[in-house]
Amino acid sequence: TVTPEAALVDSLIASIPDFPEHGVTFRDLTPVFADGAALKALSTALTAPFEGRFEYLGGLEARGFLIAGAASIVTGAGVLSVRKAGKLPRAVLSQEYSLEYGVAALEVHVDQLPVGSRVLIVDDVLATGGTALAAANLMERAGWHVTGFAVALELDGLGGRAKLEDRGIETFSLLQY
Ligand code: PRP
Repeated sequence: TVTPEAALVDSLIASIPDFPEHGVTFRDLTPVFADGAALKALSTALTAPFEGRFEYLGGLEARGFLIAGAASIVTGAGVLSVRKAGKLPRAVLSQEYSLEYGVAALEVHVDQLPVGSRVLIVDDVLATGGTALAAANLMERAGWHVTGFAVALELDGLGGRAKLEDRGIETFSLLQY
């Protein structure tokens, strides 16, 4: 059964063949973000399964920021900025993760939240899970509890869910492609 929220979001996701390279179909959520009702529905649907179990939303740069900000207004939870390397001005924890070619890193301010804070990590797309897992590692190293990972679109067959669940991270996706 498809919920009305899932159907609305699904109707707005654009699929672009051969972007950013030949053979890859890019799933573009910018039309979801551009539709106020859809962005609100997405924010509600992603946070409802974790209701009462988090005080902060961990938004993953860049597209996760949009969902975290909207979900913050829906839930009253604050936003933890999980940024790409080199952007945060104070003392950081840094966590590297693998990309198809090379490595990247995510960072948080080491003292951004009180120890023991409960964080729901949110993002637009789950592919290999490398990004979400790096974020979860950061939370644990900082002394924060990962309530779970909520994502708009899960791409099947890339191992992302297994990677997170193997680490005990409760994972919810609104849509699966
Ligand atoms: C995309 C997407 C997720 C990540 C998923 O972000 O928004 O954060 O990739 O891939 P993974 O599960 O294989 O790690 P990207 O790194 O392109 O950054 P951007 O949002 O700043 O464009």
